Amino acid sequence: MIVDQALKGKTALVTGGSRGIGRAICVALARRGAKVVVNYASREDAARETAKACEDAGGQAVTSGFDVANSEQVTAAIKALGSLDILVNNAGVAVNGLLMRFSDEQWAKSLNTNLAGAFYCVRAASMMLLKAKDAGRIINITSVVGEMGNGGQAAYAASKAGLIGLTMSTARELASRGVTCNAVAPGFIDTDMTAEHLPEAARAKLMEQIPLGRIGSADDVADTVSFLAGPEARYITGQVIRVNGGMLM
Ligand SMILES: NC(=O)c1ccc[n+]([C@@H]2O[C@H](COP(=O)([O-])OP(=O)(O)OC[C@H]3O[C@@H](n4cnc5c(N)ncnc54)[C@H](OP(=O)(O)O)[C@@H]3O)[C@@H](O)[C@H]2O)c1
Repeated sequence: MIVDQALKGKTALVTGGSRGIGRAICVALARRGAKVVVNYASREDAARETAKACEDAGGQAVTSGFDVANSEQVTAAIKALGSLDILVNNAGVAVNGLLMRFSDEQWAKSLNTNLAGAFYCVRAASMMLLKAKDAGRIINITSVVGEMGNGGQAAYAASKAGLIGLTMSTARELASRGVTCNAVAPGFIDTDMTAEHLPEAARAKLMEQIPLGRIGSADDVADTVSFLAGPEARYITGQVIRVNGGMLM
C-alpha cells in the first residue's frame, strides 16, 4: 500500500468504481491525495459509499453515473470534468457461456462494455490527459483470461485481449507527450464477479493452479494501479502487469 500525497491536485476517473476492484482502486488513489470520480452503471448507493471511503482515506470524491458502453454518455460525462490526469478503465462484465450457444446480444454486451467502453473513455479523455504535463496516466484492467483464454469465456477473453491491443496502441500514440498507458491483468480476485460465477468446488480447484496459494484481493490489484498512476511509474508504458499469484508466468 502506497501512502503519500503524490497524487494531490490530480483528478482520477475510475470506471466501475462502485464495487469490487474499482472500489479498491478509488480508495488507493484517494489515499495518495487524488480527487476521485467514482463512476457506476446502476448502483448509485454503492458509488456513494465508495466516495465516502475515499474521503475517509484522505482524498476527495464525487460520483458520476454513466454507461461506458454508451459513447454519447461517456463523451458528455468526461467533458463535464473539465480536466483529467488519470483514467482507469475498470468497468467490466463477465457474460459467460459456451460459444456454440452464445447469442449476438451476449457477444455485443461483452465487447461493448469491456472493450468499446474503454475506447470511448480513452478517446474522450485523450486531450485532457495530454494537457496533464507529463503526468497523464491510463490504466486498463484486462484479465489473465485475455492472455490464456478460458472455456465458456470466449467473448470475455476476446474483449480483454482486445484491451491489450488498445493499451499498446494508445501507449504509442500518446507517448510523445509523456502520457503512459498500461494494462493490469488480474488473475482470480474475490469480488461479486467471481462470487457469481465461481462455485465452491471450482474455487478449490482453481487454488491448485495459483502458486501463491490464495485467490487475490481487490487491494492486490489496486496497489499495482496506484503505483502505475504515480510518478515512480513514469518510464513504464505499453506493458501488461500481471497480478495473478503466479497462475500465468
Ligand atoms: N474479479 C476478478 O477475478 C477479475 C479478474 C480479472 C479481471 N477482472 C476485471 O476487473 C474489473 C472489475 O471487476 P470486479 O470483479 O470488480 O467486478 P464487479 O464486482 O462485478 O464490479 C463491476 C463494476 O463495473 C461496473 N459496470 C459494469 N458495467 C458497467 C457499465 N456498462 N458502465 C459503467 N460501469 C459498469 C459496475 O457498476 P454498478 O455497481 O453500478 O453495477 C461495478 O462497479 C472488470 O473489468 C473485470 O473484467 C476481474
